[in-house]
Amino acid sequence: MAIGHSAHPNLMVFDHPLIQHKLTQMRAKGTGFGEFRALMGQIAGLMVYEVTRTFPCEAVVVDTPVERTEGRRITAKITVVPVLRAGLVMAEGVLDVMPEARVGHIGLFRDEKTLLPTQYLSRLPTDLKAGPVVMVDPMLATGGSASAAVGMLKRAGATDVRMICLVAAPEGVGRMERDHPEVMVYAAGLDRRLNEHGFIVPGLGDAGDRLFGTG
Ligand code: PRP
Repeated sequence: MAIGHSAHPNLMVFDHPLIQHKLTQMRAKGTGFGEFRALMGQIAGLMVYEVTRTFPCEAVVVDTPVERTEGRRITAKITVVPVLRAGLVMAEGVLDVMPEARVGHIGLFRDEKTLLPTQYLSRLPTDLKAGPVVMVDPMLATGGSASAAVGMLKRAGATDVRMICLVAAPEGVGRMERDHPEVMVYAAGLDRRLNEHGFIVPGLGDAGDRLFGTG
């Protein structure tokens, strides 16, 4: 279950034992990249349950093998947008449980010195406003990348954006609250702070490098 954070109205943190158990495994420095990737996908899949709770539905008639009955189906076109690179693995976990979603891609990398994001890719569906956009990026550090990515989504027409991340720093949550207050951020953990290198503390290291075995 995700619960709202008293200090951050735009943040929902998951206190579910399964998610916390897996996040703790991911934080451990001895966890190798194969296991790290698998855990990230699993956590993202579990978080989707809460993130999609308010998706619009309509009543439909369905014929079961036994009789005609009424069910519900999601009416909106859903788009999942990973912020590359690290968002790719989270997106796979989301798509495992929501295979009908379209996928847009945003490529950003953060300069190690200035901590500012640079865009290198944007490939998005043309009718983003046709439904909710679920943006995924495991790390919300300064919030520069997430804020830039949401800005790109809005300029492309998105009107309903939700963000899934794994670990957030208060600085990044605050930046999102200032720049995009209507975007709800869902996180498995709200960590203490950023260090002088812009890394989340305690965090889990560089998510991209730990996912892909680079670095
Ligand atoms: C990481 C992370 C976010 C960003 C967070 O990506 O995945 O996109 O940094 O930092 P911010 O909140 O301070 O902007 P990175 O730029 O390292 O690229 P990568 O995913 O390709 O490793």
